[in-house]
Amino acid sequence: MVKGMKRAIIFYSFEGNTREAAEKISKIIGADLIEIKPINDIPESGPGKFMAGGGKALFGFGSAFHSVKEDLDSYDEFILGTPIWAGRTAPYLMAFLKNESIRSKFTGVFTLSGSGNNKSCLKQLKKKLPNLRYDVSICDRVGRNEDETNKAIELFAGNYKISNEDLKT
Ligand SMILES: Cc1cc2nc3c(=O)[nH]c(=O)nc-3n(C[C@H](O)[C@H](O)[C@H](O)COP(=O)(O)O)c2cc1C
Repeated sequence: MVKGMKRAIIFYSFEGNTREAAEKISKIIGADLIEIKPINDIPESGPGKFMAGGGKALFGFGSAFHSVKEDLDSYDEFILGTPIWAGRTAPYLMAFLKNESIRSKFTGVFTLSGSGNNKSCLKQLKKKLPNLRYDVSICDRVGRNEDETNKAIELFAGNYKISNEDLKT
């Protein structure tokens, strides 16, 4: 790790997949974990789950979150971890990214989804995060395979190791 470089993974997870990936990545690259917790999340089951999730993701309804206790100014770099909802970034993370002062610190994003398609999510994020360089899509169901998931995580995390080596003086 670059001397003095402080890094955090900022993530939201409804069902645990994004949290699991965040924990694995943080262990490989040495980053703090900052979880964004909604004030009102979607129902755990039933038709309301996807209706509420879709409404929040597409229109930003009810995307308020609890403020984080960490001092964000003390970090040099952030990585975002999000599940895909209705093709988009989790609404609570989009609400979090309204804080313009931290946007330039995001250099990477990993997404968790059922389909593996994160195109709209990346398009949405690239408009807000000018320094995004690395991204990876991790699929939780279609063709899910623990080895492939771990390989994708290691490749993504490896970018951070390489960029750190390059920066070493
Ligand atoms: C409200 C809601 C909407 C979702 N929309 C999509 C979607 O549009 N495309 C997709 O591939 N997966 C979709 N999923 C599946 C999740 O992205 C996937 O299960 C992910 O791994 C969940 O991450 P988590 O366990 O961290 O919450 C959706 C899940 C929920 C709950």
